[in-house]
Amino acid sequence: MSISIPDSVIDSSRLDALLEREQQRFAARHPRSAELYARGREVYLYGTPLHWMQLWPGAHPVYMRDAQGAHLRDVDGNEFVDLCLGDTGSMFGHSHPAIADAIARQAHRGVTAMLPSEDGVWVGEELSRRFGLPYWQLATSASDANRFALRLARLVTGRDKILVFNGNYHGSVDETQVEFDAQGRMRTRTNVTANGMDHERLVRLVEFNDIEALERELSHGDVACVITEPMMTNIGMVPVAPGYHAALREITRRYGTLLLIDETHTISTGPGGCTRAWGLEPDIFVLGKAIAGGIPSAVYGVTEAVAQRVWAAKPPAWAGGEKRNNHSGFGGTLVGNQLTIAGLRATLEHVMTDENYAHMIEMATRIARSVDADIAKHALPWHLTQVGARAEYMFMPQPPRNGSEAKAGRNGPLEAFIHLYLLNRGVLITPFHNMMLACPQLAPGDVDQHNRAFSECLAELVGG
Ligand SMILES: Cc1ncc(COP(=O)(O)O)c(C=O)c1O
Repeated sequence: MSISIPDSVIDSSRLDALLEREQQRFAARHPRSAELYARGREVYLYGTPLHWMQLWPGAHPVYMRDAQGAHLRDVDGNEFVDLCLGDTGSMFGHSHPAIADAIARQAHRGVTAMLPSEDGVWVGEELSRRFGLPYWQLATSASDANRFALRLARLVTGRDKILVFNGNYHGSVDETQVEFDAQGRMRTRTNVTANGMDHERLVRLVEFNDIEALERELSHGDVACVITEPMMTNIGMVPVAPGYHAALREITRRYGTLLLIDETHTISTGPGGCTRAWGLEPDIFVLGKAIAGGIPSAVYGVTEAVAQRVWAAKPPAWAGGEKRNNHSGFGGTLVGNQLTIAGLRATLEHVMTDENYAHMIEMATRIARSVDADIAKHALPWHLTQVGARAEYMFMPQPPRNGSEAKAGRNGPLEAFIHLYLLNRGVLITPFHNMMLACPQLAPGDVDQHNRAFSECLAELVGG
């Protein structure tokens, strides 16, 4: 692999040589993983149970043996400080004892029965208390929760269109898989097939932070729902411009469009996400990934007003509706099963606490300070953004204002090199971007292991 990046910033021949050295080092340290990958390629379409698992740096994925808290061991006996944490699924630490115990207990007491339980009532009450929306449903993934929530938005508004932001990621939700081409026209996202979805008819696309474009696109009065993260986190971090959320809320209300806030990543901000921290007022709230400690689960909540409209369209059984009507095209046999409920309760009750967040944010800040200092020391035109327990650097001097700017600040090969360098020194960061997450068990010494490796990496890169 050859890296193309301006020689004025980093000498590309140096980079190629360093990459070659790191690839050799990787191969020497992972013989057993290499064997397993060879076997995996015989049985999996893309070599691994989930094709993304191949996207780690190195010639093949590292095969995990076990993980606990902030640490992970692979089948070759290598040990890692894990700052990827399953790309947020394990944001509260691998096998947190409170969650592992609750799940283990429940595993012996009935896993799934298509029946509610008292713990499930507790979870609903806690979601309402914590996030401020009164009515909830569960799903098995954030993708599904988004899909179901969009279905509800269409049901209550009678509109078909969804508005999304360029550079978004909300999971495998077909409506959202669009982007601008170089001429500013919407097209299906690169590397994704349209899956039969008529994006032209069903989707409006605008740049994040562009209030004028948002107003223009909503003024047609045909958009059921805007789906957005509180700030973008998936194409690199795109912070919110001052006044943006107030405008977003005012304009969506004016045009009768529901606002769906997806906090699946930004829950790194604090125990109530950005919604609580910034006083946001979503009509629909979605949260997945880490919410049950890594057990597949997601939740979506709606306001009283949305609930009233849902019930008007599909009355519940206790208000004279037919029980069968409540199917509504969303659900799932395993949704809300008792294992998941046990994971949800334990996570909400014992792990998503102010105290844990304070520690996570302190550790993320320790990473951010050190990375910032290294960037400054080498005068690199890069920057770092921190959102609570989550920090990410990008190869551009200022934070991007939207998805297009963020995309321009990405450099896949350079990212892959840095990730490989860190991996070879016992540190995992998220393969898809330069994102680092701090879990409650992360210790200062773990952070310093990352910070040392990152400092050495930059020193080697710039030849200092
Ligand atoms: C903001 C956001 N929403 C939804 C999803 C989808 O989550 P899942 O893949 O668990 O369905 C992701 C995944 O990265 C995400 O970042």
